[in-house]
Amino acid sequence: MQSVMRYPGLKNQPDRGESQSRVRQAVKRFLRAQFGQPTGVLGHVVGRLMARDKSNLKRIDWTISLLDIKPTDRVLEIGMGPGVAVERASAIASHGYVVGVDHSDVMVRQAHKRNAGAVTKGKVDLRLGSASQLPAFDEPFDKIFSINSIHFWSEPVECLKALREMLKPGGMIAVTLQPRSRSATDATAEECGRDVMMHLEKAGFSGVTLEMRSMKPVAVACARGIR
Ligand SMILES: C[S@@+](CC[C@H](N)C(=O)[O-])C[C@H]1O[C@@H](n2cnc3c(N)ncnc32)[C@H](O)[C@@H]1O
Repeated sequence: MQSVMRYPGLKNQPDRGESQSRVRQAVKRFLRAQFGQPTGVLGHVVGRLMARDKSNLKRIDWTISLLDIKPTDRVLEIGMGPGVAVERASAIASHGYVVGVDHSDVMVRQAHKRNAGAVTKGKVDLRLGSASQLPAFDEPFDKIFSINSIHFWSEPVECLKALREMLKPGGMIAVTLQPRSRSATDATAEECGRDVMMHLEKAGFSGVTLEMRSMKPVAVACARGIR
């Protein structure tokens, strides 16, 4: 386990990295770091891949359906990557406001390009920031979500506590994870989902539930909680 990059946000690691050469492990660490914080030219390519990948799009649509976004909702996404979910959420929150935060400047630029019209109209705001150092917002949110990002957060419970403070009372958070390592199975996805449920409970959310959806290459887990 030593030589495989651990995901700081999970107790159960989806990839145990057994029987892999050092070179493969090094390549994997490098690529994983790019998905955790895309940088430079490669980061730009990674963002494009994320925006096109069919399973990513399914995962996004499913998460958004679970959030039950209303036309006037204020919505916040952490780790918005190239901004596809922000685009879809803002189409539903047609009279609301959607904010995306990511710690990669490459992703903020891609998300900005994808949502340029809505940004100009003041319906979407995209910020460079981290889950552990969130920007301040004037008003609380109705919905907060994050997709395949929490496993990269170093203090997930602390981040979730701060996010809970940014929700309106009765507001909902949805945290989705689909493990993408080769060795991951549906059972691995459920273990990751249970880790996230535990984080949400420790952060003070109530009514925490876990939804599983069968998808390719493995199932997707979405843990939800209420402030
Ligand atoms: C695998 S990508 C997923 C992107 C997008 N949510 C999707 O599903 O296509 C993970 C994203 O989370 C961002 N991220 C990871 N850790 C973060 C943190 N601590 N704060 C803010 N963004 C973070 C990365 O920069 C990256 O854009």
